[in-house]
Parts: sequence; C-alpha cells; structure tokens
Amino acid sequence: MSGQKINIAVFVSGGGTNLQALIDKQKSGVISSGEIRLVVSSNKDAFALERAKKAGIPAVVVSKKECGSQEAFEKKIREYLKQYNIELIVLAGFMCILSEGFTSKYPKRIVNVHPSLIPSFCGKGFYGLKVHEAALDYGVKVTGATVHFVNEVPDGGEIIMQKAVEVQDGDTPETLQKRVMVNAEWIILPQAVEKVSAQLQKNK
Ligand code: GAR
Repeated sequence: MSGQKINIAVFVSGGGTNLQALIDKQKSGVISSGEIRLVVSSNKDAFALERAKKAGIPAVVVSKKECGSQEAFEKKIREYLKQYNIELIVLAGFMCILSEGFTSKYPKRIVNVHPSLIPSFCGKGFYGLKVHEAALDYGVKVTGATVHFVNEVPDGGEIIMQKAVEVQDGDTPETLQKRVMVNAEWIILPQAVEKVSAQLQKNK
C-alpha cells in the first residue's frame, strides 16, 4: 500500500482501553492506512493519558469546565487538530457531546464506538456503564457494540460496523461491559478505523 498515512486523533475521557486497542492494532499492522498522531483528553486524570505517553503519542488535555463554554472548548480542540494536521477523529470513550458546529466541519471524518447495538440503548444519557445497566434492566439476551460516523444526532450517524455479544445469566453491568469490550469494541473499533482510513487515503 502506497501513499501517505491518514493523521488520526483519538479523543478520550477515562480508562482508554479502546485507545490501547488502537495502539496495539497499529503496532500489529491491523491499522496500516492511518497513524495516531494525537490524543485529546477531556479529563486531566484520564488513565488514557498514561497509555498515550507510554506509546510515545503526543497528548493534550482540553477541559470543558476550564474553557468556560462549549464554543471555547471546541475552538481549543480545533486549534490542536489544525496544529497536528488531523484528518480523522476517533471518539474512544469520549464523554463529551460535540455540537453540530464541530461535527459539520468533519463530515464522515469522526467515528465513535458505542457499547450497544444501535439503535438500542443509545443517544443522550446512554454512556459507559449506564448502557449496560439499561440493557440488563430491559432483559435483552444479546447486546454488542457499534462503530458509527458522528453527526449532529447523538449516536445517530451512519453505522460502519457492529458486533453482537451474548448476555449471560448473572451478568452485572461490569461483567457485561467487560465482555462487550473484549469481544466486540476492541475488535471492531480498530477494524473500522482501518476501513475509514483506507477509504480516506484512496480519496486523498
Ligand atoms: C467504552 O465502553 C465505550 O464504548 C464507552 O465508554 C467506554 C470507555 O472505555 N463509550 C460510550 O459510552 C460513548 N457513548 P475506555 O475508556 O476504556 O475505552
């Protein structure tokens, strides 16, 4: 494969296990059409920052609270994206909603991983463990993960990949979250990132 790699930024807020999956799959060659050039964290205490540091990837913290407004928050992020010539944004456990003013500037260039089979258990208020709590409360027997493009509708953009995971008797939100991560998120997020990067590279 020839051509320049697509410059990727990964947005995080917490543990960063999906970031780690991306780093590992970049090393192993599953991701070959793009390269993670920047990590953006909304939280200065995110363990994801340690993962970025260990992998030698530049990382910045942009706190919405410190910026004072959504507009200032997004402006600051966009400055970093320009500085690093970012062409593709990956939301990997990023717990802030981006406005239409932001998402419309990156059409089909922002992807998100969500821990359910969209359109179930998604949209505003469904994030992290809450998604798995809702799945268990409803009593579904199959859940999973979805990677989709991000537009102005929370969790509403075009679906890129999905993978199903069985719910087991006695599951807690924590055990279900772990199974969905291991068996779905950590697999389809890197695959989807490669798929989108390869497409962007082809059109460059
Ligand atoms: C992941 O399960 C991710 O799908 C979810 O938060 C977790 C972050 O874990 N994201 C959302 O709920 C977004 N709506 P990580 O920081 O270890 O990757």
